Amino acid sequence: MTISDLNEKLPIVDRHHPAIVTIKERYLLTKPSSTKQTFHVSLDLSSIPLQFKAGDSIAVYPQNDPLLVEHLIKALKANGDEQITDPRSGSLMSLWDFLSFKANLARSTSSFLKLFYEYETSHDKKNSLQRMLQQDNKPLLTQYLASNDPLDLFKEYQSVDAPLQEICAQFGPLLPRFYSVASSQYLYKDEVHLTVALFSFTHQNEQRYGVGSHFLCHLSILNKTPIPIYVQPAQHFTLPADTDIPIIMVGPGTGVAPFRAFLQERVAKNAKGKNWLFFGERNRQSDYFYEEEFEMFKSQEKVRLDLAFSRDQDTKIYVQNKMQENAKDLWEWLQDGAYFYVCGDAHRMAKDVENTLQRIAQTQGGMSEEAAKTYIKSLRTQKRYLADVY
Ligand SMILES: Cc1cc2nc3c(=O)[nH]c(=O)nc-3n(C[C@H](O)[C@H](O)[C@H](O)COP(=O)(O)OP(=O)(O)OC[C@H]3O[C@@H](n4cnc5c(N)ncnc54)[C@H](O)[C@@H]3O)c2cc1C
Ligand SMILES: NC(=O)c1ccc[n+]([C@@H]2O[C@H](COP(=O)([O-])OP(=O)(O)OC[C@H]3O[C@@H](n4cnc5c(N)ncnc54)[C@H](OP(=O)(O)O)[C@@H]3O)[C@@H](O)[C@H]2O)c1
Repeated sequence: MTISDLNEKLPIVDRHHPAIVTIKERYLLTKPSSTKQTFHVSLDLSSIPLQFKAGDSIAVYPQNDPLLVEHLIKALKANGDEQITDPRSGSLMSLWDFLSFKANLARSTSSFLKLFYEYETSHDKKNSLQRMLQQDNKPLLTQYLASNDPLDLFKEYQSVDAPLQEICAQFGPLLPRFYSVASSQYLYKDEVHLTVALFSFTHQNEQRYGVGSHFLCHLSILNKTPIPIYVQPAQHFTLPADTDIPIIMVGPGTGVAPFRAFLQERVAKNAKGKNWLFFGERNRQSDYFYEEEFEMFKSQEKVRLDLAFSRDQDTKIYVQNKMQENAKDLWEWLQDGAYFYVCGDAHRMAKDVENTLQRIAQTQGGMSEEAAKTYIKSLRTQKRYLADVY
């Protein structure tokens, strides 16, 4: 069956009926000398007329690493062909399919330990499980579950002979991962581009990767591996309908993705509204994503660019430092009705950017701290302060 055949049967594309696509092109946006790896991934939409707008995200159902699945099957003393009922959909499938596409293999839960306790025959192990599961041992349990993934558990409790179906029922679901649309359909009709940062970490001295980013950046074979996706529409994180309105975009790291789509679209539509992009990454030489395209837009006077490379000097320079340096102009743009967008890291960056904007309202707009907070609140209410952070 071809990819087109698979999609033909779809009544509608949504999270219950994902479209099946393949990767058309994939390359590193970071240079080999970089301290991180971020990929440009282009998905082929020629087999399915999927509509999306700049600002939307693409939800991807990933596949777990086959090597990890193999190790798990071995630890479960199974061969992978055993038939399992997926506890959530009720569908019958092989153990291999269940572990590859349906189960969260990265997270251990106490329900695994409860099951092992029920079936454990060794007195010592049963006692230690009981101790761990006691209410007053919660910190020990939390620490144990955080440092041991399901494969570690199955290896440790190899002698437990619980039915496969019961073991499978303890896994959490494998959830979709979201990636901002990084291209405009005005320019690329039959494809959608994503900017994907590869997550990596060490687990028990082994190099491991995030499930979704590993699937898109490494495991998927170009033009071959079926990738189930659907569009997660943005509620408000979209371009203003009026193309004359100026926009300010703050997007460090992968946060730049939607702004590449915004810029492509505004340029393709020959929009009169001014565009201002703040981009930041670690090092200019190795981490300036989409440099050629952005520099071309800049040379055509389609965008004002401010760049913050945090690790090119001893003291960190972040996007908010660049905002601060250009406070007067930024305030003028806002007075001219500019929309303010921020995308990327939710933990620290988004908050710091908001605080900087508040300070700019105070220093440039002569507002008190309270008035500046109210001003930002009003920008939000007017849907002129728009954030897509994760
Ligand atoms: C609306 C939205 C838009 C987004 N847009 C983008 C985008 O454009 N580009 C982009 O790259 N991302 C984007 N993201 C983030 C993306 O959806 C994923 O969260 C990201 O790719 C990580 O997923 P993963 O499956 O690779 O990692 P996961 O497998 O989910 O792992 C996530 C975290 O857990 C850690 N971890 C997992 N297991 C262990 C373990 N056993 N021990 C220690 N640590 C562990 C990993 O280090 C990592 O920090 C977006 C998210 C949202 C909500
Ligand atoms: N575990 C992993 O392997 C891995 C890989 C990629 C991304 N991530 C996480 O995924 C999220 C998005 O990552 P990303 O690749 O898009 O890039 P990112 O990690 O958000 O980094 C992009 C740029 O933002 C800078 N930055 C750090 N803190 C900031 C702050 N408070 N304000 C403004 N800028 C700040 C970074 O500088 P410095 O880094 O020099 O401080 C870097 O120059 C982050 O939460 C990140 O931690 C994890």
